[in-house]
Amino acid sequence: MTLPVGRSDVATSEAAMPPQSGFVLDVQGVSKRFPGVQALSDVSLQVRPGSVHALVGENGAGKSTLMKILIGWHRRDRGEIALKGQPVDFHEPKQALNAGISIIQQELSAIGDMSIAENLFLGREPRRAGAFIDYPGMNALAKRAMAELELELDPWRKMKSLSVAQMQLVEIAKAISHEADIIIMDEPTSALGDREIEHLMASIRKLKARGTGIIYISHKLEEVFEIADEVTVLRDGHHIASMPTGETDRDGLIRLMIGREAKGFPKTNTPTTRPLLEVEQLTREGEFRDVSFTLHEGEILGVFGLMGAGKSELLNALFSVTRATSGSVTFRGKRLRARYPSQAMRNNMALITEDRKATGLILPMSVRDNMAISTLGRHTRFGFVSALGVGRVVSSMSQDLDVRMASPRQLVKFLSGGNQQKVVLGRWLLTKPSLLMLDEPTRGIDIGAKAEIYRFMSEFVDQGKGIVLASSELPEVLGMSDRILVMKAGRMAGILTREQASEEAVMQLAV
Ligand SMILES: Nc1ncnc2c1ncn2[C@@H]1O[C@H](COP(=O)(O)OP(=O)(O)OP(=O)(O)O)[C@@H](O)[C@H]1O
Ligand SMILES: [Mg+2]
Repeated sequence: MTLPVGRSDVATSEAAMPPQSGFVLDVQGVSKRFPGVQALSDVSLQVRPGSVHALVGENGAGKSTLMKILIGWHRRDRGEIALKGQPVDFHEPKQALNAGISIIQQELSAIGDMSIAENLFLGREPRRAGAFIDYPGMNALAKRAMAELELELDPWRKMKSLSVAQMQLVEIAKAISHEADIIIMDEPTSALGDREIEHLMASIRKLKARGTGIIYISHKLEEVFEIADEVTVLRDGHHIASMPTGETDRDGLIRLMIGREAKGFPKTNTPTTRPLLEVEQLTREGEFRDVSFTLHEGEILGVFGLMGAGKSELLNALFSVTRATSGSVTFRGKRLRARYPSQAMRNNMALITEDRKATGLILPMSVRDNMAISTLGRHTRFGFVSALGVGRVVSSMSQDLDVRMASPRQLVKFLSGGNQQKVVLGRWLLTKPSLLMLDEPTRGIDIGAKAEIYRFMSEFVDQGKGIVLASSELPEVLGMSDRILVMKAGRMAGILTREQASEEAVMQLAV
């Protein structure tokens, strides 16, 4: 695919000249300090053309910061960067893009009111007679860019009407369409299902064949081993190791990342036979149909299904974000008739949604206020909020979840992606729900912190509470659930006990 609005026109002469070092990108000794934290200390990274270089490390290790320095979003304090053998020092992302570095940001940044096509070609719209935007032309180009990822959407659809996964795919298509020499992918698959991930992998292979260098950041180590030629490990802002992926394995990488063995699934709870939540024939027209199950006290019920199976839709209806068209929900023996999430909350239910940016976090607010916002009432006497009380609960929750931050007063927008997730989780755990519904709770969370969250879940249900865990990560569902409800195209395909559940058994029901 050659997009006339890409930068292929300017790239030809430079591309013909092979970089002397053999690296398309050569980063040497980069350091960066933010107030209260040394984000990067003397980090180096070399990327070869036509290869995938994975970058791994715990939440807050400095991965995104290094990428933001590469594209000129942040200025480095020290260090050298050479692109195709030439030293570079970008002041803004546009310069980096013009020089041949495009990026898929970890945070989705599309403008909701724009169409897919407008978003894809923002600032480089094809024009007619050099003046008017050529809408039909842009439409066709957008279709072609999306076809790279087998994505079939009407280019005029508004971004805000898309699912999180579709938005992520559009962002990927956008980054690819620039035909850059280096494409940075910062957790590109966090919202994608298996099939979309396969499409992405296929298009990465095509990019490699064209000579593009790719920096691939992910917490999913299977992806790293599937696609990457080399891998670099960062820990606490330090460069720990770089090597060909063939020379290491999963456990080896984990040890380098977190400096110890990972704990796997620390599951300790024992479910009772006392019903907590009884769902009968629950249906929401167009989304899911005839879902029935009972969640017991002390139980973790996994909900598994491929993308579009109806997992999130089911949770939304249970939490009264949407209204079921028929069926009944009984919670602690009482028929539930909540019409709004606020009522569900008063009934001691909590839902941690999939799209945390949209429904969870207030970025320009502090960690403390973000975590306490749903529970402020509890620390209020005579209209005054007890800062001491709030401070104490927030500190202990942050410690439990291992939120890496300079202080609880730090603004959430300055936390790393994974640490932002932990803040949302912390907020809902502070509401002390008796029923916790989790939609993809460990998306973007590193392996060490995942184990902490799993341990937390186990202890949580052991106090007579219950968890509904919707996830598209099969190992997580298998590792943590007492039973697994498998959904397929909006219907229940079956419920498996822990003994019956295996990867094959679950997948057989799901596809
Ligand atoms: N703009 C900023 N201001 C202050 N501190 C920041 C800023 N951006 C990042 N940090 C801090 O720098 C450190 C590294 O963050 P970074 O986002 O690079 O981590 P990461 O490796 O990408 O983690 P994750 O896997 O969670 O995305 C963190 O401690 C973070 O809080
Ligand atoms: Mg990051």
